[in-house]
Amino acid sequence: MMERVPTGIAELDLKLSGGYPRGKAVLIIGVSGVGKTIFGLHFVHRSCADGLKCVHIATEESPEDLLVQAGMLGLDLEQYIDCEQLVIKRVLETRMRNIGQAADFGSRSPATDMDIIKQVRLVPDDVDVVVIDNIGVFALDMSIKEFRDRIDMINYTLTTGKGCTVLFIMDETAYELTHEVSKYSSYGSIKLLMKENPYTEMIERYITIPKMRSTKLSLELSVFDITSEGIRIRRSKTMNEYRRTIRSMKMGGIDT
Ligand SMILES: Nc1ncnc2c1ncn2[C@@H]1O[C@H](COP(=O)(O)OP(=O)(O)OP(=O)(O)O)[C@@H](O)[C@H]1O
Ligand SMILES: [Mg+2]
Repeated sequence: MMERVPTGIAELDLKLSGGYPRGKAVLIIGVSGVGKTIFGLHFVHRSCADGLKCVHIATEESPEDLLVQAGMLGLDLEQYIDCEQLVIKRVLETRMRNIGQAADFGSRSPATDMDIIKQVRLVPDDVDVVVIDNIGVFALDMSIKEFRDRIDMINYTLTTGKGCTVLFIMDETAYELTHEVSKYSSYGSIKLLMKENPYTEMIERYITIPKMRSTKLSLELSVFDITSEGIRIRRSKTMNEYRRTIRSMKMGGIDT
């Protein structure tokens, strides 16, 4: 039996037979603003609450911004930083410094993969959970083969090497630019999308899980919302339930 690590989102745990597979890497992909970072924050928060040690490697946001965002969703991460159960790595600052220096010398922007790989190697052996947000930043620097090799190496170092459960977060653009190769490197993938609901003409957020090894999956597309308590995944509706909802909305009802 595959052991599970709860995701921090109750409805997602149900879909995944209890959580992310322990000691494996799962990839979350989606467009900007869909909620990828928030999925990562839920995972880190829940893991800390369960007494696990976590490292969050953030390439696009400062730790301060992440803590503010988490706090707005009712996820108090500061307490775990204070007791050193959670470390948020400052890759953004290193990246910006290196890019600035390259600009000063009129040279090309440096590859950003080494910043992440350095942090990955530094992850202490007693860490249980690692989130890397956004693993797509270095996709622009290299060939698709190099990119896949880097991801495989990071995955191997953290899972096989250190026994961590890993969440790779990746933006849709980098994912497509690299011909989606990262999905083969990971144990499972979760796709987040935003699209118009043709019945209600509202933009909605959707989650689907195309792959999770050793897990019984249903390939449904579920709507989710970001609320002041974080992510809420709605129960999927049958077509008949959908039609009823649309009918009552058209009649000015509030049954959703
Ligand atoms: N309390 C809240 N209530 C409703 N929506 C919120 C709340 N807090 C944040 N959001 C929404 O969450 C979105 C950001 O989510 P998140 O940062 O996880 O996206 P992302 O997929 O990581 O985007 P990027 O690729 O740009 O990093 C914002 O667009 C905002 O609308
Ligand atoms: Mg993000």
